[in-house]
Amino acid sequence: MSPVVIALDGPSGSGKSSTARGVASRLGLAYLDTGAMYRATTWALLQHGVDVEDADAVAAACERVVIESGTDPAAPTIHADGHDVSVAIRGQEVTDAVSQVSRVPRVRERMVALQRAEIAESHGIVVEGRDIGTTVAPRAEVKVYLVADPAARAARRAAETGEQSAEQVSATAESLARRDVIDSSRTASPLAKADDAVLIDSTTLSLDEVVDAVVRLAEPVLADA
Ligand code: DC
Repeated sequence: MSPVVIALDGPSGSGKSSTARGVASRLGLAYLDTGAMYRATTWALLQHGVDVEDADAVAAACERVVIESGTDPAAPTIHADGHDVSVAIRGQEVTDAVSQVSRVPRVRERMVALQRAEIAESHGIVVEGRDIGTTVAPRAEVKVYLVADPAARAARRAAETGEQSAEQVSATAESLARRDVIDSSRTASPLAKADDAVLIDSTTLSLDEVVDAVVRLAEPVLADA
């Protein structure tokens, strides 16, 4: 029998990662952060000095990058070419370049193949990203599209990074908006809500409330599985 898949999509800062980890922990499922995979690929390309604006160079170089994801929601890890890059991929250099890398179709083909392999190997998994419900796992039993007001998203990111000055929050808001535009307008599987995904707006909800809402959607499916 194929594993139950909970697909959690949405823009940056909507609370996807915390929600996905919380849901996976609560339900005893594996967890896959697909954004971390695009970030780890970007990290490796930057290490190799690849010009991320050059789509052909990115497509050629991504063939040699080896990505390995740990799927324990209590301790998610990500390796690129054998290096633990869990911390490095959150840095500004990777954050600024990742949308350019993730819009290259060859990069996406490789990531989607890896993601499907992780899903197939799991006993049930929460997968977070931008195109999980639409492309990676269109037959996922539970699909959620998580959104939040831009101001709430920027404030959350600032709280995560500890950079809470008004200037920093506004720079973060700009960076999120820039990535939203690139992520939503690319031709290869853009950020989009699947028609059958449940929309949850987390602007005024606590993390626990969002986790509860997703768990309520998943429980009947898991009971039937
Ligand atoms: O969720 P995140 O901010 O870590 O994602 C980093 C980038 O990766 C984001 O700008 C878009 C891209 N991404 C994607 O294109 N498809 C996914 N399934 C996940 C992330």
